Amino acid sequence: EPLVFSGVQPSGNLTLGNYLGAIRNFVALQGSYKCIYCVVDLHAITVYQEPKSLIEATRSVAAAYLAAGIDPSKNIVFNQSRVHQHSELAWIFNCVARMGWLSRMTQFKEKAGKDRENASAGLFAYPALMAADILLYRATHVPVGDDQKQHLEFSRDVAQKFNNDYSERIGELGLGVPIAMGNETVNGYFPLTEPLIEGPATRVMSLRDGTKKMSKSDPSDLSRINLTDTSDDIAKKIRKAKTDPEALPSEAEGLEDRPEAANLVGIYAALAGRTRDDVLREFGGQQFSTFKPALADLAIEQLAPIADEMRRLMADTSHIDSILANGAERASVMAEKTMIDVKRIIGLSF
Ligand code: TYM
Repeated sequence: EPLVFSGVQPSGNLTLGNYLGAIRNFVALQGSYKCIYCVVDLHAITVYQEPKSLIEATRSVAAAYLAAGIDPSKNIVFNQSRVHQHSELAWIFNCVARMGWLSRMTQFKEKAGKDRENASAGLFAYPALMAADILLYRATHVPVGDDQKQHLEFSRDVAQKFNNDYSERIGELGLGVPIAMGNETVNGYFPLTEPLIEGPATRVMSLRDGTKKMSKSDPSDLSRINLTDTSDDIAKKIRKAKTDPEALPSEAEGLEDRPEAANLVGIYAALAGRTRDDVLREFGGQQFSTFKPALADLAIEQLAPIADEMRRLMADTSHIDSILANGAERASVMAEKTMIDVKRIIGLSF
């Protein structure tokens, strides 16, 4: 049975990248699948978070989920640390994963920077916790932005090694299910999860530099649109966005080697729910002086209601807090079933 799982870190303001690369797709999937959407607070603390800011950011990600249109009665919405099985399975996966796999993770290299000796051990082991998030629910599909691709391959490697290391025992206990592996089907316990990296904005770039990812940690606030920005902020940031002097091309092929133009057209397409070619059929041949105001209007039209709803939800947090508590209860039931199986498979419970 297909199941969708994804998560967002509460580590600062959410950006348009988080929205177009992930949260918007979460909303689109909720009608067709059973979905679990998590606020991954244990991932956030792999770098120090001031405690009160962490609490605020956790509620704020939950508010963004709801404001974007995720229905907490049809899906499970919760914060990771409330379901202790995430940490428990992560430890087991630390023992399945190899140092070599973790050493190759580009996100660790980027985040740890030059001072690797001083990075937390948690930052290094981060992908094992992410694999635990997904596999605790035996999720089959994970919607994410392009930057999470390598982490999802890591999750597949962990699932595959676990299935392989314990295949005999999984069989003896009758806990195996058919797992699709390329063209063949094998018996295993954990599914090999499919990433869902879809749409025209899987990698939203900085508004100041089309070769850098839009990120909540960029020192320049002009580089990103935050989900909580006012309409004036959004209009200003789009007006100031870096561009090149050419007019827009009439099809998407013409965006190659024009990273800033490609980024703005991609953002427009994602917000409008259109393809880039379709957008360029309308704007091809026009200057940025025409395109930018149209993009600003569209962005404000789509994002202002989300910002307003987030503010309303954050004014009295009791609603959010009860949704997170209820989601955690429902998630715990599923998580515990998996842990009972996993402990039997490994030989930890008898
Ligand atoms: P995080 O919190 O960095 O980002 C949350 C989601 O937003 C996407 N995203 C982007 N998409 C397009 N353009 C951008 N500029 C951009 N910036 C961020 C990310 O790809 C992600 O989908 N490790 C994950 C959180 C996580 C998780 C999981 C995800 C923990 N456990 C289990 C899926 C399943 C992360 O740091 O995302």
